[in-house]
Amino acid sequence: MTYPILLTIHLFAALFFIGVVFFEVLMLEPLRAQMPREAMRQLESAVGARARKIMPWVLLCLYGAGIGMAWMAYGSLLADPLQHRFGLLLWIKIAFTTSVMGHFLTAMALQRRGKLGSRDSRIIHYSVFTHMVGIVMIAKWMFHLS
Ligand code: HEM
Repeated sequence: MTYPILLTIHLFAALFFIGVVFFEVLMLEPLRAQMPREAMRQLESAVGARARKIMPWVLLCLYGAGIGMAWMAYGSLLADPLQHRFGLLLWIKIAFTTSVMGHFLTAMALQRRGKLGSRDSRIIHYSVFTHMVGIVMIAKWMFHLS
């Protein structure tokens, strides 16, 4: 019974996280050219403040449930990834998700020191967006390619 609960938590947290990243890159970024600079700055700052409040909890659920599922069900496949394609793909997914966490922590650290410029923020957003596309594809393909 625990596994389906973890899977549900993981799926909803992933929906939220991926949704926010897609919204920022595909909706907010194109608005930059159409909106007055000050209005855009205020909007980004409000979205950023909300994200800083809620995202740590979303990431805790996402990573906690993901690690829990991997621990419960896929330990032996992860231990021998060269023999099992599923294990290999899950390792690749874990590497991508570790990199996403690195981006998140870097953004938080820069923000705290007041050094997160809008160019850095845009680079981080596009990079996380690219990671997200890879993670979602691997998350689904690992079941069908193995
Ligand atoms: C940025 C972080 C992550 C994202 C966006 C993400 C996203 C996803 C998505 C979309 C699925 C497919 C769920 C479904 O369709 O039912 C999935 C499945 C899975 N993820 Fe993650 N994930 C992340 C982090 C992790 C981590 C850190 C681990 C483990 C260390 C992990 C382990 C798994 C496992 C084992 C499954 C298969 C669950 C199943 O269907 O039985 N994920 N993930």
